[in-house]
Amino acid sequence: MAEKKLIAVVGATGAQGGGLVRAIMSDKSGGFAARALTRKVDSDKAKELAWLGADVVVADLDDVESLNRAFAGAYGAFCVTNFWEHLSPEKEFAQAKNMAQAAKHAGLKHVIWSTLEDTRQWVPLSDTRMPTLMGKYKVPHFDAKGEANRVFTELGVPTTFLLTSFYWENMIYFGMGPKKGPDGKMAITLPMDDKKLPGIAVEDIGTCALGIFKKGQEYIGKTVGIAGEHLTGAQMAAALTKALGQEVRYNAVPPEVYRTFGFPGADDLGNMFQFKRDFESYFCGARNPAFARSLNPSLQTFDTWLAHNKNRIPLE
Ligand SMILES: NC(=O)c1ccc[n+]([C@@H]2O[C@H](COP(=O)([O-])OP(=O)(O)OC[C@H]3O[C@@H](n4cnc5c(N)ncnc54)[C@H](OP(=O)(O)O)[C@@H]3O)[C@@H](O)[C@H]2O)c1
Repeated sequence: MAEKKLIAVVGATGAQGGGLVRAIMSDKSGGFAARALTRKVDSDKAKELAWLGADVVVADLDDVESLNRAFAGAYGAFCVTNFWEHLSPEKEFAQAKNMAQAAKHAGLKHVIWSTLEDTRQWVPLSDTRMPTLMGKYKVPHFDAKGEANRVFTELGVPTTFLLTSFYWENMIYFGMGPKKGPDGKMAITLPMDDKKLPGIAVEDIGTCALGIFKKGQEYIGKTVGIAGEHLTGAQMAAALTKALGQEVRYNAVPPEVYRTFGFPGADDLGNMFQFKRDFESYFCGARNPAFARSLNPSLQTFDTWLAHNKNRIPLE
């Protein structure tokens, strides 16, 4: 049997990378093996990955030498950063740069960089329709990822730039599920007006990433985007109403109001939703569900995702 191509998976104990490790490990004849990178090899999540058959190794995105060791001998890597752990775009950029440098050092044949748009290309800092945040960003958790794309390109790393979508899991883990309003009715609150929001079951990001690795050269040097479905707030509320068996409304608020909600990152997310709202046709066009399905035939729709996950959504 031909030797399997080893993929070094950053964020393997997390949502995106974890999905990729599980996709690789369940695709026994697929020709790929997984090396799971983590700072904590003794965590329960890391042990679970080892139990699945992944090679679990220690690496820290802040330490390029550890990445050099973890990428050595691999065919490819899946690279992701976790902005929400530190809320620093500069740190996120530096971590992406470390991964690009380590990929170059290891001579990897294919890297997938889980990126997002540098929204300043659409909304320059001088544009007052949304506030500038942290001095030089419009959507900090998008902009630094997009800015880091050029580092992979400049170093000549054979990269696929993967644009991901809003996780429907945000309703479970990120406080974005239905909440009871002052009128006693359940509602989801989004500043999206009547525009469509590309969404995805996060596990499908990893499965699509495996699909990209399986295509070989085809998407190297390209930007590709994935989503499970594009839905308006009203459509999401209707699907939630059906799945939960109780009425859920769509509470459309202006981004100006969303930015004042007060939780950490509310201004960043307010700007993000405004970007998605104001540039709907670009943003949806860049994330094609049919393309995602071609990579991953088991891609979930919002209804399928709800059928499996509705009981995990906290109803407050
Ligand atoms: N929520 C959304 O809707 C959405 C949509 C698109 C994109 N995103 C982006 O997704 C990213 C997060 O990805 P995720 O949801 O897969 O993350 P996650 O589930 O929160 O897990 C974070 C992962 O990153 C690893 N990690 C963090 N810092 C590290 C470091 N310094 N060195 C090594 N590993 C490190 C963690 O590994 P250990 O702790 O085991 O070391 C863990 O595996 C964010 O940047 C976010 O902007 C989110």
